[in-house]
Amino acid sequence: MKNNNAGLYIPEHVGIIMDGNGRWAKKRGLPRPVGHTYGAQTFRSITRYISKQGVRILTLYAFSTENWKRPAEEVGAIMKIFRQYLMDALTDFREDDIKVVFIGDRSAFDPKLQELIEETEEIAKDRQGMLLNIAMNYGGRDEILYAVRRLCRDVKDGSLSPEDVTEQDISSRLYTAGLPDPDLIIRTGGEHRLSNFMLFQAAYSEFYSTDTLWPDFKPEDFDKAVLEFNHRNRRFGGV
Ligand code: IPE
Ligand code: IPE
Ligand code: MG
Repeated sequence: MKNNNAGLYIPEHVGIIMDGNGRWAKKRGLPRPVGHTYGAQTFRSITRYISKQGVRILTLYAFSTENWKRPAEEVGAIMKIFRQYLMDALTDFREDDIKVVFIGDRSAFDPKLQELIEETEEIAKDRQGMLLNIAMNYGGRDEILYAVRRLCRDVKDGSLSPEDVTEQDISSRLYTAGLPDPDLIIRTGGEHRLSNFMLFQAAYSEFYSTDTLWPDFKPEDFDKAVLEFNHRNRRFGGV
């Protein structure tokens, strides 16, 4: 973990549950999709700010495996925003040398979007700055299920025996294979729950919830979370 110029520890891996777009729009008498458009702008500016703070890995929860339950109109609007707006923002990240990877089950997206995802990853693959994981059609349970399936296959073909399976064998089959667990998970929008985000990896993450709705989330709000993180006593089950 690094120190910033204010002498604070900067968490190495930060996760953000970007919640509250719909309520932000409703408060203004606007349709929910408008909230997602403004949320996409926050995504763009906050990512660049966080990368400048020296965070090594940022994982942003953009769309859960359960979010398909929403009205088709809203889901359609979110997919459109992914395509039109987020991808533009991603080319923007070139200046900050941000590497972009998508985590989640992308096979559910339309083939055009899947192609765009692959292209984006390809363009950014040699960048040396912060790693940005965008969790789209991501679910912690789905991720564990997928890891278990792969483990079962390895046991079946004889490359692994059940007695030898370790925690490491599970974590190395998750989307976040090879990455450290998140140190800090921030949730905007005031709820105190994970909503299926990083269930395996969050075992000892520090959780920070703010009432600020995602479209209103500013660099100062991130700084507040880091300040509070610096006052947490992480024991990992020890004393
Ligand atoms: C988060 O904002 C974005 C997604 C889940 C796609 P919401 O759309 O959940 O906003 P609220 O929680 O209804 O206000
Ligand atoms: C969590 O927000 C998912 C994302 C932010 C992508 P939700 O709005 O889906 O969570 P719940 O329904 O309040 O638990
Ligand atoms: Mg929500």
